[in-house]
Amino acid sequence: MNVLILGSGGREHAFAVKLLESNKINQLFVAPGNAGTDKIANNININPTDFEALKKAVLGNDIKMVVVGPEAPLVEGVHDFFLGDKELKNIPVIGPKKDGALLEGSKDFSKQFMQKHGVPTARYQSFTKHNLEEGYVFLETLQPPFVLKADGLAGGKGVLILDSLEEAKAQLKEMVSNQKFGEASSTVVIEEFLKGIELSVFVLTDGVNYKILPSAKDYKRIGEGDAGLNTGGMGAISPVPFADKAFLDKVEELVVKPTITGLQKDGIDYRGFIFIGLMNDNGNPSVVEYNVRMGDPETEVVLPRIKSDLFDLFEGVANQNLDEKSFSVTDKTATTVMLVAGGYPEAYEKNKEITGFESVDESFVFHAGTATKDDKVVTNGGRVMAVTSFGDTIEEALEKSYRSIDKIHFDQMNYRKDIGFDLV
Ligand code: AMP
Ligand code: GLY
Repeated sequence: MNVLILGSGGREHAFAVKLLESNKINQLFVAPGNAGTDKIANNININPTDFEALKKAVLGNDIKMVVVGPEAPLVEGVHDFFLGDKELKNIPVIGPKKDGALLEGSKDFSKQFMQKHGVPTARYQSFTKHNLEEGYVFLETLQPPFVLKADGLAGGKGVLILDSLEEAKAQLKEMVSNQKFGEASSTVVIEEFLKGIELSVFVLTDGVNYKILPSAKDYKRIGEGDAGLNTGGMGAISPVPFADKAFLDKVEELVVKPTITGLQKDGIDYRGFIFIGLMNDNGNPSVVEYNVRMGDPETEVVLPRIKSDLFDLFEGVANQNLDEKSFSVTDKTATTVMLVAGGYPEAYEKNKEITGFESVDESFVFHAGTATKDDKVVTNGGRVMAVTSFGDTIEEALEKSYRSIDKIHFDQMNYRKDIGFDLV
């Protein structure tokens, strides 16, 4: 079967590597892909939210399944587009329709969903410019720090965590009245600050049945010791040592099951990944957020740990018989360290030649923001490459990732030297 992956990050390169292990895959396409996917699959230079162009590519290349990497095409309705088109409607899309994608596309919707279905999450209320004064009053009932979230997609930047009440009030006004995050912040969720340590749990569902994939911990801040600006993610580790069986059993009972049954009760036929961002507060899980896709760079540690055929699980999602499928996971620890462009997550330059990555032999190098240019590989984004390694321990895996990084070079390359610092 010919399969198309949508997206261009390290996540999509990891999907491509994993899917190519399947003997059921004939040709693999990635749109738009990067220099890494270009080497192993066929890149198609179209934007994943250009649905008419996707249609042409799918029909022209006899593609029989589409796997969606990022959230934007899902929130904009790529799955609905396929179902609504008579030539595409029988081609399965791995990723929810618009109604399910709202779990990520609207924080207000996802909080309402959690409350309605009894999923543990921080207490909250939502506000717009029409009830700004009530927002101030609600803030006064909370203890600092104050958590303000733009309702809509804001490229990972829409969450503010503020220590002072005055600042929280001022920022709330900026968000709802002055469109600090554009249309995305015309509604703002204000919620209680959750204590604890964060991790992510990944679920694949066919709408009825589900599989819980390996959990991972992501390092979101640019600076060592988790300081500085938020990024898309600077590194990840799987499994998460503090997510033991007792905790994960709680997550399944208190979070995963009510989420899946909640979707069914609400008439949402959800086929795809659910990425559950969790806080572990003394062994009790609370949901920070849902995403409707895999995480990046979490995918670069989760998928390599899966030993069995991922495409087989995708067929289970498409045919709604995921309960008949099984998968296996290595006990080894996987770590990934993200190489980023100097300046990222603020302004950075592109087009820097990347060298040395081809001589890496004890890690996998997943390309993220890379492109091919005159036989060279150059940087083409803020997050450039994820260097993933296995070990019997976190330390061993990290040593390999860092040894491999020593071989890689591009001008102004930056990375965190302390991934896993809180776990080892
Ligand atoms: P989100 O986009 O909802 O994942 O929020 C971004 C980050 O802000 C999360 O990964 C957490 O680190 C932090 N965060 C969000 N909500 C809360 C909360 N209620 N309490 C503590 N930290 C939070
Ligand atoms: N690494 C966090 C995310 O993919 O949203």
